[in-house]
Amino acid sequence: MQVILRQLGDCNIRRAASSDLIPVMEINLKTLPEHYSDYFYESLLAELPEAFIVAEIGGKHVGYIMCKTEYGFSNFKKLGFVKKGHVVSIAVLDDYRKKGIGKALVEESVNGVKSRKCDEFYLEVRCSNNEAVRLYEKLGFVIRQQLNAYYRDGEDAYLMAIELD
Ligand code: ACO
Ligand code: ZN
Repeated sequence: MQVILRQLGDCNIRRAASSDLIPVMEINLKTLPEHYSDYFYESLLAELPEAFIVAEIGGKHVGYIMCKTEYGFSNFKKLGFVKKGHVVSIAVLDDYRKKGIGKALVEESVNGVKSRKCDEFYLEVRCSNNEAVRLYEKLGFVIRQQLNAYYRDGEDAYLMAIELD
C-alpha cells in the first residue's frame, strides 16, 4: 500500500517501494556524481523504509531521499554515543527544483528517523554545493566539521548535523 505523506500541489511525497528503486537510480545518475549498487538501494529500503521517500508528479519520479541509521559518536556531545540518522543521498530533477520538494523530502525523512528514535541526523555535502547547504541550514542543520578530500575528485565535504528531540 502506498503511504502518501504529503502533497505539494500535484506532487506526491510518499514512502518508496521496491518498484521505485529503478526510477530513483535514474534520478541519481542524472543528478549526482556519487552512485551506488542496486543492492545498496535495496538494503536502504529494507533497513529504513520510514526515511526512503520519493516525490512523484503524475506518475513521474522527480526526487528522492534515502537514509540509514548508525550508532556512533555524537556530533554535538563530547563523549556521547548516540543513534544517528544519516542522509545517504537526496536529489530533485533539475526542472522540478525550487518548488519546495527538497525541503519536503528532508522534513519527511526527519520524521522517519525520529520514529526510529534517532538522537541526531547528519549528512555530508560538497562545500561548493550552495543550494544544498542552504536548504539544510534552513531546516536547522549546522556545519559541524569540514572533511578533507572526502570526495573522489578531492573536494572537501561539510558534515552537517541536527539534534532531534
Ligand atoms: N517558489 C520559488 N522558490 C521556492 C519555492 C517556490 N514555490 N519553494 C521553495 N523555493 C526555494 C527555497 O526557498 C530554496 O531557496 P534558497 O536556496 O534561496 O533558500 C530553494 O527553492 C530550494 O529549496 P527546495 O525547493 O526545497 O529544494 P529543491 O527541490 O530545489 O532541492 C536539492 C534541493 C535537493 C539540493 C536540489 O538542488 C538537487 O537535487 N541538487 C542536485 C543534487 C544534490 O546536490 N543533492 C544534495 C547532495 S548532498 C547529499 O545527498 C547528502
Ligand atoms: Zn554520508
